[in-house]
Amino acid sequence: MKTWTAEELHQLRKRVKVWFSKKGRSLPWRETQDPYSIWVSEIMLQQTQVATVIPYFHRFLETFPTVTALADAPEELVLLHWAGLGYYRRAKQLHAAAKVVRDRWGGSFPRDYDSILALPGIGRYTAGAISSFAYDLRAPIVEANTQRLYARLLRLRGQLTERTIQNELWRFATDILPDRTGSGRLNQAVMELGSQVCTPKTPLCHECPLQNLCPTYAHSEQSEIPSPKPSKVYEDKVEVALLIRDSGSRYLLRRCQTGERWAGLWDFPRFDVTSAQSEDELMASASNQFSDRFGASVCLSGEALQIKHGVTRYRISLRCFHASVEKFDDNPSEASNGEEGPDAVWCSVHRLNEVPLSSTGKRIAKHLAEMPP
Ligand code: ADE
Repeated sequence: MKTWTAEELHQLRKRVKVWFSKKGRSLPWRETQDPYSIWVSEIMLQQTQVATVIPYFHRFLETFPTVTALADAPEELVLLHWAGLGYYRRAKQLHAAAKVVRDRWGGSFPRDYDSILALPGIGRYTAGAISSFAYDLRAPIVEANTQRLYARLLRLRGQLTERTIQNELWRFATDILPDRTGSGRLNQAVMELGSQVCTPKTPLCHECPLQNLCPTYAHSEQSEIPSPKPSKVYEDKVEVALLIRDSGSRYLLRRCQTGERWAGLWDFPRFDVTSAQSEDELMASASNQFSDRFGASVCLSGEALQIKHGVTRYRISLRCFHASVEKFDDNPSEASNGEEGPDAVWCSVHRLNEVPLSSTGKRIAKHLAEMPP
């Protein structure tokens, strides 16, 4: 592992800042010092690409321009503006944290690192990003792009998730920060360098301002550092979604309950049928699970579409069947009704886009909207 001298760290700061002022992208959250906007952007950028986030970021801030506006909004509206970004837990935590800022901090964002870190859904990285970008506090950041860059600048071997490696990365992230002002800009700059130049595969070392300071470059070890992650073990699942239409061309939706995947969002009734051994068993299983849950019998007809998607460690094959129900209520409900309002509704095709749907629910809705009447 490389030890950086004070002079080398000084060089690093200077070169990265010059490079950033020439090559850094202008992104909407870089044009503001408002901690709330920065916070929203950082939560959206967790696991979502910059290009996808930009329009969501603008729309979200138009709808919820202040922390208090967000805190006062109903959760459904927040989820609706999040729909498409995925990972809805982030939106719920953002909403919960906005309520804390409203109730505990009178609606103005806390200014010190520890109070920011104490907010729900804000970890060490996000607290560092908000503190440094908005207030220029000397707070380090380590996320996917910077950890790859730092691992290479330190020539660190081993899994990035290991505790000892993480400690080294956070120490280096602190060491590179200037003593007085400029931590926010430096943090933005190293992140940009990590994402645009020090890329996972074939990094653009010839464009890197730190090339001759980088021990990984000197040893041509860019493909070994950081160490590749062990490959994930997936479990296959088969699920059935029922596209149940009533006589008025409306579809049955149910709200995903607390503890389920996509809790709080709406979805077409959906059942795990992984253990089914044949097509007949698969359809019978979905139909039995529907009647257990809704107390009505359902009749499956043709298959509308199949969606393959991944959630955490599951590789799911979702089989979507058209279906109809006999003698079913106009106000449907599940056997176990929660306390958050109706847990099942009929919704016409043209209003499906007004409902915060799960990601696969949205794909089904799109399919239904494109279907001939
Ligand atoms: N990824 C996470 N945070 C980011 C930011 N502030 N700018 C660009 N990419 C990011």
